[in-house]
Amino acid sequence: MATGIAPARDPNTLSNYTTWICTHTTANFDIIFDQKRLVGSVVHKFRSATDSVSQEIILDCNHVAIGDVKIDGKPSDWELLPPLEPYGTALKIRLEQGVKLNDIVEVEISVQTTEKCTALQWLTPAQTSNMKHPYMFSQCQAIHARSIFPCQDTPDVKCTIDFNITSPLPVIASGLPVRDSLGEPLSHGKTIYRFHQRVPIPSYLFALASGDISEAAIGPRSVVATSPDKLRECQWELEADTEKFIGAIEKIVYPYAWGEYNVLILPPSFPYGGMENPIFTFATPSIISKDRENVDVIAHELAHSWSGNLVTNASWEHFWLNEGWTTYLERRILAAVHGESYRHFSAIIGWKALTDSVNHFGHNHEFTKLITDLKGKDPDDAFSSIPYEKGFNFLFHVETLVGKQKFDSFIPHYFTVFKGKSLDSYEFKATLVEFFRSDTEASKALDTLDWDTWFYAPGLPPKPQFDTSLVDVVYDLSRKWQSLPGSSFKPQPDDIKGLTANQIVVFLEQILLFERPLAPELSKTMGDVYGLAKSENIEVANLYFQVCLKAGDDSIVDSTAELLGRIGRMKFVRPLYRSLQKVNRPVAISTFEKYQDFYHPICRAMVEKDLFGKKAI
Ligand code: BES
Ligand code: ZN
Repeated sequence: MATGIAPARDPNTLSNYTTWICTHTTANFDIIFDQKRLVGSVVHKFRSATDSVSQEIILDCNHVAIGDVKIDGKPSDWELLPPLEPYGTALKIRLEQGVKLNDIVEVEISVQTTEKCTALQWLTPAQTSNMKHPYMFSQCQAIHARSIFPCQDTPDVKCTIDFNITSPLPVIASGLPVRDSLGEPLSHGKTIYRFHQRVPIPSYLFALASGDISEAAIGPRSVVATSPDKLRECQWELEADTEKFIGAIEKIVYPYAWGEYNVLILPPSFPYGGMENPIFTFATPSIISKDRENVDVIAHELAHSWSGNLVTNASWEHFWLNEGWTTYLERRILAAVHGESYRHFSAIIGWKALTDSVNHFGHNHEFTKLITDLKGKDPDDAFSSIPYEKGFNFLFHVETLVGKQKFDSFIPHYFTVFKGKSLDSYEFKATLVEFFRSDTEASKALDTLDWDTWFYAPGLPPKPQFDTSLVDVVYDLSRKWQSLPGSSFKPQPDDIKGLTANQIVVFLEQILLFERPLAPELSKTMGDVYGLAKSENIEVANLYFQVCLKAGDDSIVDSTAELLGRIGRMKFVRPLYRSLQKVNRPVAISTFEKYQDFYHPICRAMVEKDLFGKKAI
């Protein structure tokens, strides 16, 4: 009798993942820096979820060169299906005969990445900080793993992984090092590095990096890894908070499941603030601001060890389950370590990011919904602060409705029920409602929740009352600037005495909200008096440049272009190009032409779209 196949709930995969389920992957790769490619093989174990219905396995695959395919050791027929953008050319593998329900087949595919691979960036020695060695790293979220090897590239499937990686330089991966065989030397100056990921993970958490990397302790179960010349400053930035953060979230959810929690600080072209690759968070060097003011990125990536990495969104349409929950937990960590007013401070910054994103897309846009329709779309195009901040506000609203103490007891319950699983928003809803069913008061409160509006209405949610104690002082200061020229206000260095870099960030954001931009002389004065242009904190420098660009100050164009050649984090790069082109489009274009090879392929494609309205990859 044929067994019913569950319908696929992820529209962004071409794989038939409900028919075959990958349970284990072994990735054997040689990192060949000269050729900028990975060469090797991948071995997947698939469990049949049906009784002899399907004699084909379809895998996601994009821009990968396939050598041959074997099933249980025997050569097998395969073909690449016609390209279906943005999902790629799926790999169809034929089985000679059907197999029984729950039987396992082992598929070995020999593969090479190509220069069109969107998941890898290859850096020349000149693009690294000590300019001695080449470097490579991966970024697979959301659907780029398929450009490294054929796989079920969906967050709805999780498997354990073995990594056998050969490189002339140290390697980091999203698994625990296999200690007794780590760093076995081979001939030709290469070494084999082995890692094992014992917790099943989705394809987007597959990660590799290799380069001149050294490590230093930042806590009892944590190291930071980076270029040797940057090691000490990275260690200083992270050693005060990392273990505090882990301790705090373990009390909120439950103990950390992955063994070690480490951070890799990448070269500046890393396109995100951070990426929650298991065992090793990958992070931008722009969080190393020498003031420990950007470690909230670490709190965020650490929180993903529960929300996202253990409990995973079933598709990118329910991305808020990853990012909204993570933003919520990140702010609970901040509250535990620095006090409740910090949580609200961070939420106020988040609200500003949310309004910016909603304004950017337009208040009725599909991507401003909590649950988005991504059929036929590229999840990268939907990326914004909305799933983070609308998701946070939704959970904060639920917390307020049922009461904080009761919500606190729901958190470990939710993360236990879905541990090791993927879920969608409807399962979240059912679990929340069920948890409070026997509690009349909480149930009544939840009855008032307008689920459909939260899930499907575009635009901003209702704004909660946040505690403004940490922002009031900078709101006051920004009002003084707004009164210029004309008032008796005389800016002085003391105006910002005692303010943290993040409070200055909020101050600058307020200035950017002025309907009438500052006059260029005033933005110059602000930079001189407060020392903003030279800030080591890139969040501050970036916003100060935005203030000047909005003021139409042509003299900031050169420093902006210089910053755009120094950092490839999209959070800064995309808005800076957008503002720069308004002031001086020829410089924006020539700057992009100059630095496009420095940017990561994803960032390059996004900026190209922003500037020219087309896609580069
Ligand atoms: N998982 C994301 C990064 C990501 C999202 C990469 C979607 C690719 C596709 C990561 O956890 C993240 O949210 N990073 C933020 C940092 C943060 C503190 C909000 C970032 O990169 O800015
Ligand atoms: Zn995140």
